[in-house]
Amino acid sequence: MNCHTWNRPAQLLAIVILTGAAAAAQGGRGGGGAPGPIAPLRAAVRPQPTNLAKYVRDQTALVALGKALFWDAQVGSDGQTACATCHFHAGADHRLQNQLASPSGVTTALTGNRTLTTDDFPFRRLANPNNNNSAVIRDTRLVAGSAGAVHRTFFDVNAGLHTDDGATVSSAAPTSLGGLELRQVTGRNSPSVINAVFNVRNFWDGRASRIFSGSTPFGDSDTGLNVLAGGASGLQPERVRMDNASLASQAVGPALNSTEMSYNGRSWPKLGKKMMSLSPLSRQRVAVDDSVLGAMANPEGNGLRGEYSYQQLIQAAFQPEYWGSTTVVDSKGSLLKIMAVPDNSNEFTQTEYNFALFFGLAIQAYESTLISDQTRLDQFLEGNTQALTPFEQQGLAEFRGGASQCTRCHVGPELTAASYTRAAANNVNPGDPNDLGFFRIGVSPIAEDVGLGATDGFNVPLLNPNRAGAADGTFKAPGLRNVELTGPYFHNGGQATLEQVVDFYGRQGDFGGANLGPGIGAIRLNAAERTQVVAFLKALTDDRVKYERAPFDHPSLCIPVGHVEISPGVPQADDSSPVTAMSAADKWALIPASGKGGNPVPLQTFEELLSGIGNDGSRAHTLTEACRP
Ligand code: HEC
Ligand code: HEC
Repeated sequence: MNCHTWNRPAQLLAIVILTGAAAAAQGGRGGGGAPGPIAPLRAAVRPQPTNLAKYVRDQTALVALGKALFWDAQVGSDGQTACATCHFHAGADHRLQNQLASPSGVTTALTGNRTLTTDDFPFRRLANPNNNNSAVIRDTRLVAGSAGAVHRTFFDVNAGLHTDDGATVSSAAPTSLGGLELRQVTGRNSPSVINAVFNVRNFWDGRASRIFSGSTPFGDSDTGLNVLAGGASGLQPERVRMDNASLASQAVGPALNSTEMSYNGRSWPKLGKKMMSLSPLSRQRVAVDDSVLGAMANPEGNGLRGEYSYQQLIQAAFQPEYWGSTTVVDSKGSLLKIMAVPDNSNEFTQTEYNFALFFGLAIQAYESTLISDQTRLDQFLEGNTQALTPFEQQGLAEFRGGASQCTRCHVGPELTAASYTRAAANNVNPGDPNDLGFFRIGVSPIAEDVGLGATDGFNVPLLNPNRAGAADGTFKAPGLRNVELTGPYFHNGGQATLEQVVDFYGRQGDFGGANLGPGIGAIRLNAAERTQVVAFLKALTDDRVKYERAPFDHPSLCIPVGHVEISPGVPQADDSSPVTAMSAADKWALIPASGKGGNPVPLQTFEELLSGIGNDGSRAHTLTEACRP
């Protein structure tokens, strides 16, 4: 139900149902054909979440809570997986090992724990990269995703402990190598959380609804009374319906998802109980000059100072109607006793019960601060004619011009048509389930991933059923800021460099015919123009992102970077606890804490990581510094 990443079995089902209706192979609507205007990000339309004041009383406390939760590895069932584990690098993930998934979801020697190399890219290699009809030299049909959680069954949370009780599920999950379970890998590449606040709907397929339900990502499909609100007559179940809140909808997906962060079967009240018993970021460093958490940081050790508990942060941020009761409820929210405290882990406080509401709104508030509107393109568009070199300006002209078609889809201040700005310009009510900004560009065959053609966790089509055929194989056009730092590219992570991406466009996509909507077929770019476009794409980096300056600074995080192997293809068992015994031991790399002044050196790009450029210390996030989670 809480699927965050693309749910594979459901997806395959959707293909069977939908291909029949997919006769009219049109791509998404969007720029409307004529190349559209580009504007500075500050000009973007960004409506605020509605009725926020009903729940929130202090926005500053809300952002602090959101930043702590986003970076806190204790949220994962294993106590080792944060949201940031897959969004640590310019808001995305550039790890190399154990990052591959196959379309079938079954681990093979080609995927399990493999380390990506330069030679792996592009995944589909053609004899002539400028001709998509030339001989296919190799086509791995893999996905470069993100390593998340080992497949385990959830038993219970342990108050005061960062690890949940559970058991490794062997063989039921097709993710084992040499008899040991590996961390599962998502079926799509991790997009950046930076500027995601501008997306009307989030995820590659838009399934994080604009409407926040307080519990699941699926908006109005979820009609549950998902929170308990206090009043004179005790606690009442209440429906949450907040508009312009796709980031909150998105945030309540991963934390219970058994591929990404959770043992299978955990509930929100259980996660609430766990987090209420732990101090924020208790095993991670917070810089004393962190732009949000610095004033609360513990200068002597890890995390925040003792007075800043999750309880305290929630109470500071939210209205007391949602946490102030002393009533104890069961997992369904039914009254057990009044003026009491829970006696066992199946009894919950109001705060624990409402934890999904707090989690979604807090993370949304934090992510809404991650806006990179100081790129050189933005400076140029705001009047600084020196901000782009003449060569980059030629690239901008190519990007805007009809021959490249780029602004048919990457348009407006956000550089994507999947935006409120575009919805307003096209007079589309963004509340209608529509395909504005979703396009079919031939990255993969439709049958492999139907994108917006799928259904949500309640089996409701992501696009209006009478346009279902139009949705098949379309994906959200990403805004392109900081794209230099967020490789590998596309929903399948199949391109390592921007040169490869632009070659892809130059040959008019990898899969033609019905796999292609309008636009791509009209692209005409010669070699010189391609270099210009690439130079332009590299001018879309905000230095604050590149050097992790505020608001892009963050606590430290130890991330898994593949599994230890005794000999090639034979992982080593993790004997650290009975829960982990049947799984492979992890390798760990430190993402050090940064304060508001950022790092002295720039982030390493994916391309540089592949070739080891910057491992001498001239880049940050080289994944070479070991750590213990
Ligand atoms: C195991 C890796 C992993 C973890 C952990 C993870 N994510 Fe993601 N995230 C992904 C992937 C993969 C996608 C794309 C999935 C898709 O579109 O189907 C994604 C998509 C997103 C998006 C959508 C961006 C866009 O442009 O559509 C946001 C926002 C986001 N994640 C935030 C979070 C938050 C908040 C958490 C923690 C609650 C989190 N992620 C945890 C891998 C991860
Ligand atoms: C018809 C619409 C369309 C056109 C035209 C188009 N794009 Fe895209 N672009 C998309 C979509 C949709 C995606 C995501 C596709 C996917 O992953 O399946 C994308 C992805 C990208 C990415 C990868 C971003 C990431 O984070 O993975 C880059 C870079 C990019 N486009 C640049 C360009 C450039 C440069 C041009 C012009 C040469 C262009 N695009 C033309 C729709 C379009």
